[in-house]
Amino acid sequence: MEDNMKIKHFASLLAGVLLVGMVSCEYQTIVPYDVVIPDTPVDFATEIEPIFTTVGCISCHDGSMVFSLAAGKAYSNLISRNLVDITTPANSKILTKIAAGHNNKSFSATQSALILKWVTEGAKGVIPPVSFKTEIEPIWTSADCTSCHSGSLSPDLRATKSYASLTSKGLVKANDPAGSPLLQKINGGHNATKITADQKALITKWINEGALNN
Ligand code: HEC
Ligand code: HEC
Repeated sequence: MEDNMKIKHFASLLAGVLLVGMVSCEYQTIVPYDVVIPDTPVDFATEIEPIFTTVGCISCHDGSMVFSLAAGKAYSNLISRNLVDITTPANSKILTKIAAGHNNKSFSATQSALILKWVTEGAKGVIPPVSFKTEIEPIWTSADCTSCHSGSLSPDLRATKSYASLTSKGLVKANDPAGSPLLQKINGGHNATKITADQKALITKWINEGALNN
């Protein structure tokens, strides 16, 4: 209950700032930077995670003293420690703990509203790109490509060799699955009966993500 009140208080503060901003617009064109909440879904990596650094949380939350809120670490800790409450977003500990006063650190009204919006949207995390080494390269063996493409026949699809072979021969065009001979070949049925639809989708996604050697 009390937490809900605080969130409401934030909201009325926000409305107040907006109102002042609008009234003062008649006289000056400066709109307060701190009240812009985008309509688009909140992106954790670019919009939420940087807040913890900006506000100074990671001076303690660096993973040595207490759990980390640093880039690349914050999401898994927020989830595994149940600091977000998707059912009742305003009760999320990441908000209530700070609103109650925590080591003299606080979020601005905008930052709180952004975090609340992010939780309300389901607290979506960072979706890692497809990994060539762990997800793509093993396909060549599991789909039996290496029974023929094992050195002398182009492309060399053996483990640790396939990336260089595919890219140096222009068989993969980054961000262009349809224009990549590799996928044309696979989709054309070339000895590819063992490749599953999921694997084809994964190869397509990998190419769309820039065909990284990751
Ligand atoms: C001066 C050091 C310090 C700073 C700065 C700090 N924290 Fe903490 N934080 C702690 C310590 C120590 C704990 C564990 C004890 C406790 O719960 O208060 C903690 C606990 C928490 C918890 C509760 C974790 C749980 O499992 O219940 C949350 C959430 C949290 N911090 C978030 C933040 C955020 C967000 C910021 C920045 C706005 C921040 N902290 C800044 C030291 C700090
Ligand atoms: C039965 C043997 C055999 C198997 C299995 C096989 N290939 Fe091939 N592949 C060939 C031959 C022969 C060629 C050269 C003639 C041609 O282009 O069809 C070739 C050509 C290719 C090319 C074009 C190379 C170039 O330089 O233009 C690609 C890409 C390719 N294969 C990918 C694959 C993939 C991926 C798999 C597994 C799904 C696979 N192949 C399975 C025999 C095979």
